[in-house]
Amino acid sequence: MGSHAVSPARKQHVVCVPYPAQGHINPMMKVAKLLHAKGFYVTFVNTIYNHKRLLRSRGSNALDGLPSFQFESIPDGLPETDVDVTQDIPSLCESTVKHSLAPFKELLRRINAQDEVPPVSCIVSDGCMSFTLDAAEELGVPEVLFWTTSACGFLAYLHFHRFVEKGLSPLKDESYLTTEHLDTTIDWIPSMSNLKLKDIPSFIRTTNPDDIMLNFLIRETDRAKRASAIILNTFDDLEHDVIQSMQSIVSPVYSIGPLHLQVKQENSEDSELGRMGSNLWKEETECMDWLDTKAPNSVVYVNFGSITVMTAKQLVEFAWGLAATGKEFLWVIRPDLVAGEVSMVPPEFLTETADRKMLASWCPQEKVLAHPAIGGFLTHCGWNSTLESLCGGVPMVCWPFFAEQQTNCKFCCDEWEIGVEIGGDVRREEVEAVVRELMDGEKGKKMRERAEEWRSLAQKATECKRGSSVVNFDKVVKVLLGE
Ligand code: UDX
Repeated sequence: MGSHAVSPARKQHVVCVPYPAQGHINPMMKVAKLLHAKGFYVTFVNTIYNHKRLLRSRGSNALDGLPSFQFESIPDGLPETDVDVTQDIPSLCESTVKHSLAPFKELLRRINAQDEVPPVSCIVSDGCMSFTLDAAEELGVPEVLFWTTSACGFLAYLHFHRFVEKGLSPLKDESYLTTEHLDTTIDWIPSMSNLKLKDIPSFIRTTNPDDIMLNFLIRETDRAKRASAIILNTFDDLEHDVIQSMQSIVSPVYSIGPLHLQVKQENSEDSELGRMGSNLWKEETECMDWLDTKAPNSVVYVNFGSITVMTAKQLVEFAWGLAATGKEFLWVIRPDLVAGEVSMVPPEFLTETADRKMLASWCPQEKVLAHPAIGGFLTHCGWNSTLESLCGGVPMVCWPFFAEQQTNCKFCCDEWEIGVEIGGDVRREEVEAVVRELMDGEKGKKMRERAEEWRSLAQKATECKRGSSVVNFDKVVKVLLGE
């Protein structure tokens, strides 16, 4: 247990509310585990849809919890379905704003009516579930908002309203989606330089003034000012200037990452809490044995996270590009990766690469990226994937899909020098050339060295007691205790 532990005599009760998507539930689970290790009683609130999915993917006793770590669920307001797919994000945002506050308040009332659990004393909620602030204020308890993005992505979101004020978003018409317009210089966000419009989170690329995501992000970032504190899964050495810059808009902001390294310090995988997972898809672990047979830095890892979708044509271009590299690769193809179709790679591709590939539909990614055999990562630049790659010392080929992945990509390539971007319009020749450079080229070597440097700084940030993220986490505990 860390330095600022809660005394058992006055057990505090934190309610953790992740946004209902994989890239948000995973880091929130880690925050919950860290708070539990500090002595908090934890209630972890999934949506009913994800609660059922977790039971299917992890087994019927996966959410039984522990005596002081319980799971609850609230509706997301969307029509019920038993199919394990990524929900439509704009609909989910719209729906949770409208429908989730009342059941959340009811849940809090129900918890507080129980004698056997301590009363709710604080809330940690995803930044995109800010309806929870209304409940916290009504109850008179502190609420910390967790923005699961990079700091650079969050800072860009904090300026979304200014893109509207400046007439940069919404776009006047579809022709503004051309490269020329997207190359417009953005030099007015303090601490962020050399940015172009294309590097700003994708939600500003709309022609609709009523666009759900544009308005949602403006609303949620404005409401963030009401939180007792903001936490980010990043570390000071990585995003110092950006974090400082946002302190004048929302404050205080604490960087507490990389969370998967901090959690390792607290929970061994042998403990019941350590084994408590949050994967919505069933993990296929055979790839770990396969990786054990491979030489260091020899395997290309390809995974586009939980939300990215692509066309059947793009999938085929990636396939033939990878085949042409002659490299061994581990490719995770989610069943719903191709929009509107079953994700299928060409049978000839399967035959041609039979002796040097491993395919899976979902894998234990943190472990994969920490495996010495992985030499490069072809990724959509989701923030968790980016951090996990950096912590594994693995350089990246970046193919950003949406949200702040564009900003993450820009920072990976130009600020942190651990990534190289590949064009959105995927061509097999480019895939081959970029992956070869990543694995064998001079640029790839430099990026691997930089990734190693960031890895050791990430480790330093999460080092027991002295690390900046550990110290910041203790400050967050104080905020939650109302001190
Ligand atoms: C995204 C990103 O978090 C973010 O950029 C954006 O705001 C919207 O949501 P996602 O696309 O899922 O989420 O990407 P990522 O952030 O990388 O999160 C995926 C998580 O699932 C990671 O923790 C990763 O380790 C895990 N994962 C992914 C697996 O465990 N196995 C897999 O096969 C794939």
